[in-house]
Amino acid sequence: MSTLHRVRVDLDVRSYDVVVGRGAIRELASVIPADVKRVALVTQTSLPIDVRAELPAEVTVSRHLIGDGEQHKSLATIERLGDEFAAAGITRNDVVVGVGGGMVTDVAGFAAASWHRGMRVVHVSTTLVGMIDAAIGGKTGVNIAAGKNLVGAFWQPAGVICDTAFLDTLPEREQRCGHGEMAKYHFLTGDDLLALDLDARVARCVKIKADIVGVDERESGRRAVLNYGHTLAHALEIATEFSMAHGEAVAIGMMFAAHLAQALGRIDAARVAQHRTVIADHYRLNIKPPKGVQRVELIELMHHDKKAVDGLTFVLDGPNGIETVRNVDIAAVHQALDALSVP
Ligand code: GLY
Repeated sequence: MSTLHRVRVDLDVRSYDVVVGRGAIRELASVIPADVKRVALVTQTSLPIDVRAELPAEVTVSRHLIGDGEQHKSLATIERLGDEFAAAGITRNDVVVGVGGGMVTDVAGFAAASWHRGMRVVHVSTTLVGMIDAAIGGKTGVNIAAGKNLVGAFWQPAGVICDTAFLDTLPEREQRCGHGEMAKYHFLTGDDLLALDLDARVARCVKIKADIVGVDERESGRRAVLNYGHTLAHALEIATEFSMAHGEAVAIGMMFAAHLAQALGRIDAARVAQHRTVIADHYRLNIKPPKGVQRVELIELMHHDKKAVDGLTFVLDGPNGIETVRNVDIAAVHQALDALSVP
């Protein structure tokens, strides 16, 4: 087994470890609280990963399945999980173990946050997006007709396992989405992430996120920088009726954010070129919005972004690093969309 990285998410009594590396699954028992009698394993049938052999021998394990696809990220799934937890005798003193990508850990986390008004949860993340983003930081929730992730809770896990061997079989598109989120971390610090191997890079991304969550758990300020590139990304996802995946849209969103920061005089052409090098050249992500997407629709959607309480609001690079910028001039937005050739 290669060296494992243990990253601490420092949140006082809610602090926990994220174990990263090939073979990290062997550490699962080490993050299961010692007083647990039952484990409610929440996962998907489509996942070829069985973690039961890694759980402490003395616990009773029940298995609870979530369907594939975003439509199962719903309150109906939470209700069914509640019925199943009741049948399995899961108490507030037991633990939910969510095994899967972001969709599974969001649902498992929210089920844990709600069952008996809150029980412990451990995440075993199986995708790159999950390892460096979704499974860390305690955002849980489900979708309703009015929008994605609108019902949920901040509920920190007791521990997170990121076994990078799971990434060997990750489908190409999932890999691409992970790279979209990973590229983001290149701009959040001055670190040369390209110099790190995969395990060290995942661990570094986790550490960057952990430090941000450590100072702003409930996103009242600093945590918003994790949404770098996400304002245009959310608009692109909606405009393409979600045929564009989140990480693919984030890649374009960050390129847009770089052009916008340049139009506002916050960064120079060399920094924009650096964005292109990381996103397009290194991670080989597409940085052009799909044909058929119209700027009038994107601008309208960006006006309705949940950060946009004071006019058009973006997370932008600048002399002080990445930060939230409010009341952005529409002329600069047009300049950035021109740079991306959006009609
Ligand atoms: N995915 C962004 C956050 O956890 O705040």
